[in-house]
Amino acid sequence: MTWYKVLKQDAMKDGDLFKSKIGNNELLIIREKDKFYATSLYCTHEQYDLSEGFLDNGNLICPNHFATFDPEDGSVVSPPESAGDIGPLKSYKVKVENGDVMVDIA
Ligand code: FES
Repeated sequence: MTWYKVLKQDAMKDGDLFKSKIGNNELLIIREKDKFYATSLYCTHEQYDLSEGFLDNGNLICPNHFATFDPEDGSVVSPPESAGDIGPLKSYKVKVENGDVMVDIA
């Protein structure tokens, strides 16, 4: 398990989405109230950049065709209306330590 510091906790407020990169892994950091989550950056429908999305009732929405994901585990809450099933986002472990948001990409 290797933890990588991605940003300061105070750099994000509730509802913010932040694009980050660790090695070749492009990540989306999500702050929902006082919790932080990390998922893969691109929508599994048509690879839209989810840092341009938004949170609604705690769910992550892709603004392209409105696929909805659970930030906690990356699972699909609802696929785009016109599409069949789509895959989940990758989900990464996150912790906050000494004011730093840390992600384990293993
Ligand atoms: S690209 Fe995200 S819903 Fe279509």
